[in-house]
Amino acid sequence: MTYPGLSLEGQVALVTGSARGIGAALAVGLAQAGADVAVSDIPERLDEAGGVQQKIQELGRSSSTYALDVLNLDNIQSAIGAVTREFGQLDILVNNAGIRRRKPALEVTEEDWDAVLDTNLKGVFFCAQAAARGMIERGQERGRIINIASQMAVVARRDRAAYCASKGGVANLTRVLALEWIQYGITVNAIGPGPTETPGLVAADARTPEEVDQDMAAYMPLGRRMVPEELVGAAVYLASPSAGATTGHLLIVDGGWTAQ
Ligand SMILES: NC(=O)c1ccc[n+]([C@@H]2O[C@H](COP(=O)([O-])OP(=O)(O)OC[C@H]3O[C@@H](n4cnc5c(N)ncnc54)[C@H](O)[C@@H]3O)[C@@H](O)[C@H]2O)c1
Repeated sequence: MTYPGLSLEGQVALVTGSARGIGAALAVGLAQAGADVAVSDIPERLDEAGGVQQKIQELGRSSSTYALDVLNLDNIQSAIGAVTREFGQLDILVNNAGIRRRKPALEVTEEDWDAVLDTNLKGVFFCAQAAARGMIERGQERGRIINIASQMAVVARRDRAAYCASKGGVANLTRVLALEWIQYGITVNAIGPGPTETPGLVAADARTPEEVDQDMAAYMPLGRRMVPEELVGAAVYLASPSAGATTGHLLIVDGGWTAQ
């Protein structure tokens, strides 16, 4: 028997950037816990997003796919409006969409900085704002917003100036929104994943597999990269009825990276 306090039965979730990687695993995981799930991503990834939608439907849950580019405020409003209309409600928002650009701080351009901060921090804020406005207008007694930060919200790594700034920003933004919105029954939390094997991570990594293994042996107590499914339990908990008093929290799931 499963613990009912962790069931997402009757809840509707939207996951940004959920065509692949961590977002796809979280979308499927929330559906496994009982939620109906709206999959979303940039227009170029809607085919991949359709595959995630299909997996969710095979679990017996409702799912649809939406074009939602977190860089476009009009698109954020329209996509969140469409999800709410078509599913009848929106209870859980997972702000997962994010990008990375690795280069030494001395080489970072204004375009690099803006792309990373606009996607990873500004996008999180305006998606959260749009979702919370709807939750409040509908008089829902409960809402859940989960921001995907990083272990790099609390520790630094070379060649990631804009990324670390964006994720540190997400962690503290999470606390502000938690303070403001708990009066409406909306909790706002963040998850801080450690290195996780995803298409985006692999594409950004110019190193050989041997070099990656050496890096993991040196920095990662777990001894390997995580897989996206290792983040699902954290998201299900934060989305669940059990987490009504958990807000403003950064739940680090990083294989021990920040424990050392
Ligand atoms: N993989 C890791 O090691 C790791 C570690 C810590 C945090 N994270 C965070 O987890 C999240 C997911 O990362 P991932 O590794 O799965 O990456 P990924 O690149 O594999 O997937 C990211 C998804 O976000 C989408 N996306 C990018 N820009 C977007 C935009 N403007 N609007 C909507 N969607 C957009 C992409 O199309 C893609 O489907 C990111 O926020 C990332 O910073 C990842």
